[in-house]
Amino acid sequence: MAEKLTAHYEELKARINFHNHRYHVLDNPIISDVEYDRLLNELKQIETDHPDWITPDSPTQRAGSKPADRFEKIRHPGAILSLANAFGGDDARAWFERIKKIDDRVEQAKFVVEPKIDGLSVVLHYRDGLFVQGATRGDGVIGEDITSNLRTIRAIPLKIPVNSNWVIGNSDSQTPQSPLTTYHLPNYLVVRGEAFIPNKEFDELNRKLEEAGEKTYLNPRNTAAGSLRQLDPQLTASRPLTLLVYQIVYSEGGKIPTSQWEILEYLKALGFPVTDVAKRFDDLDSAIAYTETWNEGRDTLPYEADGMVIKIDDLTLAADLGFTGKDPRGAIAFKFPAREVTTTLTDIGVAVGRTGVLTPFAMLAPVEIGGVVVERATLHNFDFIAEKDIRVGDRVLIKRAGEVIPYVIGPVVDARSGQEKTYQPPTICPACGQAVEHFEGEVAWYCVNAACPAQLVRNIEHFVSRGAMDITGLGIKIVEQLIETGLVKDVADLFTLNKDQLLTLEGFAEKKAENLLGSLNQARAQSLNRLLAALGIHGVGEVMAGDLSRNFGNLSALAKASAEELQQIEGVGPNIAESIVDWFAQPVNQNVVKKLKAAGVNPEMQKDEKKKEGALSGLTFVVTGTLPTLSREGVKEFIESNGGKVTDSVSKKTSYLVLGEAPGSKAEKAKSLGVKILDEAELKKLAEG
Ligand code: IVH
Repeated sequence: MAEKLTAHYEELKARINFHNHRYHVLDNPIISDVEYDRLLNELKQIETDHPDWITPDSPTQRAGSKPADRFEKIRHPGAILSLANAFGGDDARAWFERIKKIDDRVEQAKFVVEPKIDGLSVVLHYRDGLFVQGATRGDGVIGEDITSNLRTIRAIPLKIPVNSNWVIGNSDSQTPQSPLTTYHLPNYLVVRGEAFIPNKEFDELNRKLEEAGEKTYLNPRNTAAGSLRQLDPQLTASRPLTLLVYQIVYSEGGKIPTSQWEILEYLKALGFPVTDVAKRFDDLDSAIAYTETWNEGRDTLPYEADGMVIKIDDLTLAADLGFTGKDPRGAIAFKFPAREVTTTLTDIGVAVGRTGVLTPFAMLAPVEIGGVVVERATLHNFDFIAEKDIRVGDRVLIKRAGEVIPYVIGPVVDARSGQEKTYQPPTICPACGQAVEHFEGEVAWYCVNAACPAQLVRNIEHFVSRGAMDITGLGIKIVEQLIETGLVKDVADLFTLNKDQLLTLEGFAEKKAENLLGSLNQARAQSLNRLLAALGIHGVGEVMAGDLSRNFGNLSALAKASAEELQQIEGVGPNIAESIVDWFAQPVNQNVVKKLKAAGVNPEMQKDEKKKEGALSGLTFVVTGTLPTLSREGVKEFIESNGGKVTDSVSKKTSYLVLGEAPGSKAEKAKSLGVKILDEAELKKLAEG
């Protein structure tokens, strides 16, 4: 009876480890969580009855054990080497030329390209197939024993090879091609991999922390390293860590492959998680070409990668090439352009936006990120500075990716000297000196002085911009001069400028003045919706301006509208309605409207007849990003001509988000609210009914 139970216990362990592998390594579970938990509970019950049976490969042993006092040191059985860097194809070819001179066989070499994951290097020891010890890289010779922490990572097999019998009945035969039949598991096997937190899980972790009002983490790499190099395994267990392995550092007994490509296949067959984007190439140029495709593609990887590794496939040849310092000659790290760097925060400046909102920005010791020298970076808002405890003089981590404006991620606290100064947000506007204000429920601080020169510059910039009045020849330098000289005190003044006045400005000659007056004159004929969008009323973007224009037909009618009337329009909630009413109630703005009318800027628009009916009737859409064929106006017309409605911001009421290239934050918001997402083609299909 007991014999039968031990056999059942063994089978149960193997079965759970198998399903664990399907879930955490192959990302392809074949049973539900409930079934998995049932198996685990059954196992726990047997172990409660027979505590002496428990072995280290039991899945129950993953739960974090008690915190340790300190980490023991472990000497690695082989050197845990580093990699020399290459920045671009020329560097990689120079490496190839160098090693060709050392060994002729290099000429014929094949190459394996793998992602270079930005995580923490870990070393895993298996004796007779059992995971017995795990260490950090340390100095490459001696690392720290973090076995208890590593045990909690479900992607790490506790026993290899992971049993794969449960799917193929009870035959224990491997397919003839399997690396497991060609090679034999060493009694002692030491593998190396990179532990990390996938990006999605990292964002989710930070989101939860933020919700709980707790401090968020800087980046996945530091969080992964921190989670593994602290003494409480329970904490490690709570972090979404995983890993990918890529090297056999040492083995005794058995027979292992001698090429990198087969090592990856062998490790995978044993049940280790292995990258699925590695490729083997017959020559270096093809390897470089593949590597370079990842410069752009890196964001599609589910983890942070700081480059690709190009490795000579023949490991005997690679070993014979030896090393320079800690870098093996047989491989090179092909680095992506950096996106995160640290530099000194020399000061914090404050910019005044069009709506008077004060935005802090970082003034930095110049630093190169991905080929661009960065001296300024966004600091989001004053709460962000306080939450992250960013101090002037701090070493800060900066990120610059794609077209996004560089931003500060946070301070490197460990680099502090004690000289750093805590930052106090300004109490007065840096442009006009008036006291700043804070509104209930908002993070931002505002300068509410309608005559603030900094706001006026931004206001005019917005007024003349392409999506608004589209007035060419009015760059920021000219706008600043017009304000400084007192020629322009509000947007309406632009239309009373004359040639003599313009000629007094720096850099203006006849032609330039005439051109500007010409484009101002043309702007008089701009449509009502453009004028409304140009006025910069809080909450009135291009889409809303169109709706208001069609409903009211002219400025005077809109100026008279009450909040209740405004709310009759779909998409206008109480906040926007109030903001519109407030805007027209302010004497300064009434004066602007009066002056605009006097200057001949008073467009009329045909009011809408009955709304169109079509396949999109009753549906509300938000558009973000650039669509393949339709322009912004084009997609709006398309949706409306099919009876649908377009609004500016995503809410629970939004039926669909139409998603294009390089979308903004609306995409994130739609996802978090569970709003359905369409591309242009799907939108067209929907409109066909
Ligand atoms: S190979 C001899 N392959 O990058 C083997 N390293 O600076 C040398 N890394 O410390 C390492 N992904 O932690 C190799 N696919 C990969 C890697 C990788 C990440 C890390 C590793 C190492 C650093 C090299």
